[in-house]
Amino acid sequence: MTPENRQAAAQTAVARCLALAACTEVQGETTRLYLCDAMREVHALLRGWMEAAGMAVALDAAGNLRGLYEAADTGARQTLLIGSHLDTVPNAGAFDGVLGVVLGVAAIEALEGKRLPYAIEVLGFAEEEGVRFGKPFLGSLALVGRLDEAVLALEDRKGVSVREALTGYGLDAGALGRAAIDCERTLGYLEVHIEQGPVLEQEDARLGVVAAIAGQTRAQLRFLGQANHAGTTPMCLRHDALAAAAAWVSAVEERARATAGLVGTVGRFEVRPGAGNVIPAEVVATLDLRHPDDAVRAAAASELLARAMSEAEARGVRCEYALTLEQAAVPMHAGLTELLQRAAWQAGHSAGLMTSGAGHDAMMLAPAVPAAMLFVRSPGGVSHHPEETVRVADVEAALETMVEFLELLREDEAGLEISGEMGTQHA
Ligand code: GLV
Ligand code: MN
Ligand code: MN
Repeated sequence: MTPENRQAAAQTAVARCLALAACTEVQGETTRLYLCDAMREVHALLRGWMEAAGMAVALDAAGNLRGLYEAADTGARQTLLIGSHLDTVPNAGAFDGVLGVVLGVAAIEALEGKRLPYAIEVLGFAEEEGVRFGKPFLGSLALVGRLDEAVLALEDRKGVSVREALTGYGLDAGALGRAAIDCERTLGYLEVHIEQGPVLEQEDARLGVVAAIAGQTRAQLRFLGQANHAGTTPMCLRHDALAAAAAWVSAVEERARATAGLVGTVGRFEVRPGAGNVIPAEVVATLDLRHPDDAVRAAAASELLARAMSEAEARGVRCEYALTLEQAAVPMHAGLTELLQRAAWQAGHSAGLMTSGAGHDAMMLAPAVPAAMLFVRSPGGVSHHPEETVRVADVEAALETMVEFLELLREDEAGLEISGEMGTQHA
């Protein structure tokens, strides 16, 4: 690829992300939850680009879009996976997840029809954010055969279950098991993603390589008090669900501020009945806690869940919670990560090691197959926001690194460097 071609390919990748951002459930913003109708438009666009690049495209039982670029020898046993997710948070930016899928297609296009000793499957994961059903990573969990059947019963805010949503999308909910890959035949997984934070910008670096992804605890809490008249009920006789929940939210903020590296977020907060002259009867809230050290996160989680109980009890309010995610920190595969760093250097870019505070599909893949992640600088450190963006030159650097990575992997055909590490990394 000439430098002009690479720049044009990066520009195309950015333009494609923007085109996909126009596929939305809510006009005027980008909101695309798991199995929504707007996802069909995303799939149609990606399918067209994938097929034009020589891939065979299929939608698996979980709704993951998968484009297979065959190896030179169609009987080759090994497949490299490249991917990220296609769902978004509400009112999202255009690049979170989508960039990694679009760059997977761009890396295939850069091969200009040349086939490698291994096949490449580009994956557009159906669900990573956990917004619609309160549980993240549904697409990648299905891919590694870890999507529990119990997930099918989860309901969204309208009472639609995962099972019904799959059926409505034209998928067979009973066939989720068939989405699973054969790990033995998988060379590894590469995910390119925007950093979503300010570190690379501060370091004036285009790219970073992820050494590990911080662990997460997510929970949904319900504070159940009693509605009553705001004018006639004395303060000492109230069971105000919102007063309990609000005190707890402050405790979450204080606890996270007081612990280095801990981040705590209450991102969803719904008050019922929601009238100015009625004491709040019920609050539904979420907790999202993250830290690179699992022990620090676990201690904070149990303390804050206990605090929710005590704030409720002090007001005669009941509190119940359900853990929706308990995910340990995940190291990336040492051998594949080293290969990725080498690819960046050979492409002329420095790419230091860093920890990811955001969760990624790579977290679900890493225990099953060698996984590595490349971060692209996020201007302003902004993400999960419509102003999230990328610089074309940084995307170009990522694409150059991917092209180099495919070449290094070809040279490492026997997979010695990678599979040799499996025992220690993924035991
Ligand atoms: C994914 O975007 C996350 O919440 O980390
Ligand atoms: Mn996200
Ligand atoms: Mn993401």
